[in-house]
Amino acid sequence: MLPKTFTDALPIINKIENEGHQAYYVGGCVRDFLLKRDVGDIDIATSARPELVQKLFPKVILVGIEHGTVVVHYEGISYEVTTFRLDGSYSDQRRPDQVEFIDRIDEDLERRDFTINALAMDKNGAIIDLFNGRKDLENKVIRTVGNGLERFAEDPLRIIRAVRFSSQLGFTITGETVAQMKETKQDIEGLAIERITNEMTKLFAGEFVNRALAYIRETNIDAHLPIFKENPNLVHLLPNDIPSLSSFGQVIALLHLIHPEVRVERWIKEWKCSNQMKKEALMLAWACEYYDKHGLNAWLAYSLSEYHEAGFIKLVATLKKGTVTVDEINSVRKKLPIQSKKELMVNGHDLIEWFPDRKQGPWLKKALHSVEINVVNGTVENKTEKIKDWLKWNLQEIE
Ligand code: CTP
Repeated sequence: MLPKTFTDALPIINKIENEGHQAYYVGGCVRDFLLKRDVGDIDIATSARPELVQKLFPKVILVGIEHGTVVVHYEGISYEVTTFRLDGSYSDQRRPDQVEFIDRIDEDLERRDFTINALAMDKNGAIIDLFNGRKDLENKVIRTVGNGLERFAEDPLRIIRAVRFSSQLGFTITGETVAQMKETKQDIEGLAIERITNEMTKLFAGEFVNRALAYIRETNIDAHLPIFKENPNLVHLLPNDIPSLSSFGQVIALLHLIHPEVRVERWIKEWKCSNQMKKEALMLAWACEYYDKHGLNAWLAYSLSEYHEAGFIKLVATLKKGTVTVDEINSVRKKLPIQSKKELMVNGHDLIEWFPDRKQGPWLKKALHSVEINVVNGTVENKTEKIKDWLKWNLQEIE
């Protein structure tokens, strides 16, 4: 009996088969099932054309229909159901520009990237393995399906995917595939940066990230990645025992900290990252630089949200700047006079009232920030009168 993740999708397979078509579990879900890893999304490959799949199920999303993919929503779960196809070249996130639908699974498997990803499984758990993918799984090997030069030409992102899978699975890339990666690596430059960022995010989050970085150094793929290409030393500056970094914000903070000449904002722009990534990278970079100068003090524990704690601790250790633990941060945090700005006993209105001669302007924000710092580090008590008094003596200096 297959695990629930797979049996949940059985009604979809059965319905397609009842129409006289074939349907298989395919790709990453089969790979991860055989490796006894957590299975993510279930992808289904079928001989049924998308128009039929669309008719068979009441809840479908047609985002990728011209490439053969219909997302079927069944019992609260989404499944990508893709018609067997031959690929053209890829230029968007993950779908080829033109495709040709076919009736046989073997040709569909032939166009896939690596042998470990070119596995299909029927509803009874029988595996279709045309390229010795199972053997490669056992031997922990990443190898292209057929001619690697062709596979990488079809989609150069696969060059980075090879390294990403080595990072996630701890696998070795075969010598031939590595040589072919080296030969085709300049084609990476034609890829949409969002696709690269997406793979690199997974690469740095992998358990075997140092193995992946060793492959990047060996193949010199970085010579074709934004910012890295103008800083050939960058991948060599990264320590060779970094921990897996669960978000790209952590990655950017680390890259900035080992090479401060490139600002966080530039990484964000060139790698087209989200605003949330920017905030995270800026906060982590600030926290590490601040810790380097002042150690773990009240202001740092106050400024660092719990969300950024794990990343900060990891980066401090990676940069060999010392060791900080969650307990240490919490014990400083517990003693803080306030936990957030909301608890300050003054606000902008008070300041305007206390200093009526001053026009509203940037001084207000600066003064409030300074009050916040001095309350947090214990210089001023968080009492309205005490703060007022302190400001009278210190406002001049703040400006
Ligand atoms: N695939 C491919 N070439 C690509 C992208 C994908 O051949 N450039 C094929 C592979 O067979 C892959 C499948 O499409 O297994 C699904 O792709 P994707 O969801 O990106 O990767 P997974 O292998 O499922 O891995 P993960 O879910 O961990 O990203």
